[in-house]
Amino acid sequence: MNELDALVTEAQQSFAQAATPADLENAKAQFLGKSGRITEWMKGLAALSVEEKKSRGAAINAAKQVIEAALTARRQTLAEAELQQQLQAEALDVTLPGRRRGQGGLHPVSLTLERIELIFGSMGFEVADGPEIESDWFNFTALNTPQDHPARSMHDTFYVESPAGATPNLLRTHTSPMQIRHAVQQVKKYRTALDAGQPIPEIRVIAPGRTYRVDSDATHSPMFHQCEGLWIGESVSFKDLKFIFTAFCRTFFESDDLVLRFRPSFFPFTEPSAEIDIQFQRGPLAGRWLEVAGSGQVHPNVVRNMGLDPEKYIGFAFGMGPDRLTMLRYGVNDLRLFFDGDIRFLSQFQ
Ligand code: DAH
Repeated sequence: MNELDALVTEAQQSFAQAATPADLENAKAQFLGKSGRITEWMKGLAALSVEEKKSRGAAINAAKQVIEAALTARRQTLAEAELQQQLQAEALDVTLPGRRRGQGGLHPVSLTLERIELIFGSMGFEVADGPEIESDWFNFTALNTPQDHPARSMHDTFYVESPAGATPNLLRTHTSPMQIRHAVQQVKKYRTALDAGQPIPEIRVIAPGRTYRVDSDATHSPMFHQCEGLWIGESVSFKDLKFIFTAFCRTFFESDDLVLRFRPSFFPFTEPSAEIDIQFQRGPLAGRWLEVAGSGQVHPNVVRNMGLDPEKYIGFAFGMGPDRLTMLRYGVNDLRLFFDGDIRFLSQFQ
């Protein structure tokens, strides 16, 4: 092997050993740089004869070309390796599930309230909303509940501090005050027609919302939900109540063979009054009577407090417990689960 061949081999080895582009550029300088080995060889030509210059010069150029080719090849290899490394480092695993923000969802009781509104809405009922801090008048007196009624006891009711001498306000113990509030509003709206003895549209409303009592166990919570219903007109009867409420329960529970029972009861604001029980014919609750609402024909004193003539206007009202409806629908046996805010429980309803 002549010396030039040895130089080429050395350069090739040196390039092959360069692990980075920077190493490679250093190696290049050694062989192809201004004071590199090839340049030295070129300088050596000066001392030779013309003939020798020709042949040696050609040999040096050939060696130089091989070295340059080796350099280019190595550069490319290193660049590709670098690219591969970068691709690997920045690789995205597109099969990994993304990090999503929890979507949240409606509370099971809210789902029930939506359902109640939808069903009664489809039967022509308006939805009304009212204050949770209520006056004694709307919560009790206007609803024909006498001063000494046990429901007014401090044990049953959360009273709100009021100026000395004033009748204390309270957290409403039921949604029934909305019967009066809504009817009074309607009466005001149709005052002229009423005064002229003309007919007014029937009052048909539901009022869902939060209610409060001093009560706490597996089936009672100090804050709970109720939904009031009221239908007043010139000839609204108990049979309409039965029809409406049966249709509601069957739709709500998606069960056509659900049976209803109206059990005589007492409420100051209705006469006669009835507790409404339902019975499933199938499923885990089949055969048991389950109480779902209080109801009755609106008491003449209440109709009067609405600003209507009880000789002319008559109707029914009901009050049901959406919490209980939710428990029955989903088979939940402890009411407190709804209000603990445990996401493991709540997320099961999404
Ligand atoms: N307000 C009653 C309660 O909380 C429920 C009720 C019973 C509402 C009869 C009514 C009704 O509208 O007619 O226990």
